[in-house]
Amino acid sequence: MDAPASHDRNADQVAYWNGPAGQRWADRQAAQDVLLKPVADLVVDRAKLKPGERVIDVGCGSGATSIAFAREVAPSGRVLGVDVSDPMLARARKAAPKDLPVDFVLADGTVYPFEPASFDVLASRFGVMFFADPALSFANMRKALKPTGRLAFACWREPRENPFFMAPLAAA
Ligand SMILES: C[S@@+](CC[C@H](N)C(=O)[O-])C[C@H]1O[C@@H](n2cnc3c(N)ncnc32)[C@H](O)[C@@H]1O
Repeated sequence: MDAPASHDRNADQVAYWNGPAGQRWADRQAAQDVLLKPVADLVVDRAKLKPGERVIDVGCGSGATSIAFAREVAPSGRVLGVDVSDPMLARARKAAPKDLPVDFVLADGTVYPFEPASFDVLASRFGVMFFADPALSFANMRKALKPTGRLAFACWREPRENPFFMAPLAAA
């Protein structure tokens, strides 16, 4: 496994997403992408991407949203998918059509040395929920955004407020 440079406090997450669980997520991604397509559509809608824009997709996983964002900003824009999981990025690299402007980097968004003030949008589907110190992680990514930069992400509420998790439990 290639290991990303990461913040010490995210070490458990890096281990999780590169271990058997990360591999399972990668193997199940096709089904996940069908299930979560409405969420991807919402993030695309809210991000209001325009051709030519540069986008960071943090916690991009197997790349479904990076690809969707790249379709919006092509041909002159570009998407950088950032993720700590080697197995999920391997899927992303395979899935991305060669003619789309998307790159993937194995990295922790908390410490990755983004080019300062160079991105228009920070976007994510469920990739911003795993930072040990969210303020530190968002501060690093904020520096990558232009002063006019925008933020669009989907993030679950805690399980008790979330029927997606609670309904099956209640039924069981
Ligand atoms: C629930 S998955 C979502 C994946 C993808 N966005 C999707 O919607 O299919 C969360 C992702 O966040 C990544 N992740 C967790 N901590 C991260 C960090 N500090 N920096 C970058 N990615 C991280 C994981 O490796 C995993 O791929």
